[in-house]
Amino acid sequence: MKVEVKQGSPAAFRGEAMVVCHFEDSRKLAGAALELDRQSGGMIGDLIRRGDFTGKPAQVSVVYTRGALPVYRILLLGLGKKKEFDLEKARRGFSKAARSVRELGLAEFAICLDPVPGSPGLEDMTEAAVEGVLLGLYRFTQFKTAEENGPREVRKLVLLASDEQAARRMRAAAAAAGIVSRAVCYARDLVSTPSNEMTPTDMARRAKEAAVSKKVRLTTLGNREMQKLGMHALLAVARGSMEPARFIILEYAGGRRGERPYVIVGKGLTFDSGGISLKPPDKMEEMKADMSGGAAVLAVIKAAAELGLPLNLVGLVPATENLPGGRAYKPGDVLRSMSGQTIEVISTDAEGRLILADALTYAGRFKPRAVIDLATLTGACVIALGEDVIGMMGNDAGLKDGLRKAAGETGEKLWELPIWDDYAELIKSDVADMKNTGGRAGGAITAAVFLGKFVGDTPWVHLDIAGPAWLSKEKPYIPRGASAVGVRLLLRFLRDQAAKKRGK
Ligand code: BES
Ligand code: MN
Ligand code: ZN
Repeated sequence: MKVEVKQGSPAAFRGEAMVVCHFEDSRKLAGAALELDRQSGGMIGDLIRRGDFTGKPAQVSVVYTRGALPVYRILLLGLGKKKEFDLEKARRGFSKAARSVRELGLAEFAICLDPVPGSPGLEDMTEAAVEGVLLGLYRFTQFKTAEENGPREVRKLVLLASDEQAARRMRAAAAAAGIVSRAVCYARDLVSTPSNEMTPTDMARRAKEAAVSKKVRLTTLGNREMQKLGMHALLAVARGSMEPARFIILEYAGGRRGERPYVIVGKGLTFDSGGISLKPPDKMEEMKADMSGGAAVLAVIKAAAELGLPLNLVGLVPATENLPGGRAYKPGDVLRSMSGQTIEVISTDAEGRLILADALTYAGRFKPRAVIDLATLTGACVIALGEDVIGMMGNDAGLKDGLRKAAGETGEKLWELPIWDDYAELIKSDVADMKNTGGRAGGAITAAVFLGKFVGDTPWVHLDIAGPAWLSKEKPYIPRGASAVGVRLLLRFLRDQAAKKRGK
C-alpha cells in the first residue's frame, strides 16, 4: 500500500473518504472537524448533538457529504478522552477506520491529523496512523483463491498536512513507520507460511530479503560448517528430520567499524512436533509458528538497514525442524554443545533452548554490546503471564529498562520474571553438566536459566514470546494468527539507542 503526505486544507480535499478525529470530551468541535462542519452546514455537529457519535475510543461513523464538500464521505473517528489518549489508542483507532474503509470497498482514503493533541506530537501521531492502517489491514491471502479474498485491498493512504513544514515532519515519520510496519508484515508472512513451504532452507532463502543493502551481509551455515563448529545441540534437534538445519547470520554495519554490535537471536523452529517426546495433536498445527523469534530477527535487521540506524547489528537464526524420525535424538541422550558444556536430554520437546544454546555461544564471537533473544520457548510462560504477555528475563538492569520502556511505547505487553540462582538447582543433571528441563514449576524461568549458562557475562535479555506470537483472537490492529510480536519492540529499542548515540 502506498502512503503519501500531502499539504492541503481538509475542506478542499477531493476523494472517496477522509478520516477526521474527535475527542470524546471536547465540548466544541476544533480544527478540521470545525472547518468541515461549517462548510457542510453542520453535518458533523449534528451527529454529535444527537448522540449518534460520542467520540469513544475507535468509534467510527460514516457521514455522507452529498455535495456539501468535495470529499464523498467523512469517517468520524473517536479518540476517547484527551487525558486517557495515547499512541496505542491512536493505532487502534486508525486501524478501525482503515478496516471500515476496506469494508466500504474503497481503494484509497485520507487521514486528517488536525487537530493534533499537544502530546503525543505530530511525528508520533503520524507513525501511529501509518502503523494502525498498515498493520490493521494486513491479511495473509497467499493460499486463498482470488474469489475468496473478501473486500478488495485499500491501495493508498493520504496523510493531510496543514502546511509545508508539517508536511516535511510528517513525511519523515510516515517513511519510518512504513518501514517498521512493512517489516512486521514481512515477519507475519514468514510465520503464517506453513512449514511445508517454510523449511529451514526456505527460511534461509527468505533471509535474502533482509539483506536490503551493501551494509547487510548474509551468511548461511549448513550441516558441515555446524559440525565443524561443534554445534551438536542444534544438530541433535535436526536429526529427526530429513530437512537439513540452517544457521542464518545477518550482519548489518550501520555503526563505526569495530564498534560492538547488538546481537539479536531468534528461535527458528520451522515446525515443532515435540520429536520423540511427541506433542499431543491438539493445536499442533500452530507449531509452524515456532520460528516466530527467527522471523522477527530477520524483519528487525531488514528494517534497521532500511532505516539506516547508526548501529552495528547481528541477527542469528538457528533454523531446524523437530521431528521424531528414525535418527531422531532421544530422551537420555547427552549432547556436547558448542560451548563444551554437556546437556542431558530429558524431553526432546525442550528443543528451543538446545538450538539457542549453540546460537548464544556463537553470538559471543561478535563481542556483543548486548544480546537479546526472542523465542516461543515455553508453554509455562503462557501459564504464568497469559497469552498476551512477553516474559522478560535477563542479567542486565539497563537493558531490561530499555526494553520495558520500548514496550510501553509500542503497546507490546512485557513483564519480567526473576532468574535467581536458586533455580539452577532444578536443571542439575546426574550425568551431564545440566539437563534440558527443570520440571513443571517455574518452567519459563528454568528455561531462561538454562540459556543463561551460554551467555557468560555479556549483557543479555531473553524474551519468551510463546503467548503473544500467535493470536487465537484478533486484536485491534493484529489479525488472528501470526502477530510478529517483538519486531516493533526491538526496532523501538534500537531506534532509542541510536537516538541516544546521536544525542551524545
Ligand atoms: N515451542 C514450544 C513452546 C510453545 C508452546 C510455544 C505453546 C507456543 C505455544 C517449546 O518447544 C516446548 O515444547 N516447550 C515445552 C518445554 C517442556 C518440555 C519443558 C513446553 O512448554 O511444554
Ligand atoms: Mn518443543
Ligand atoms: Zn518449540
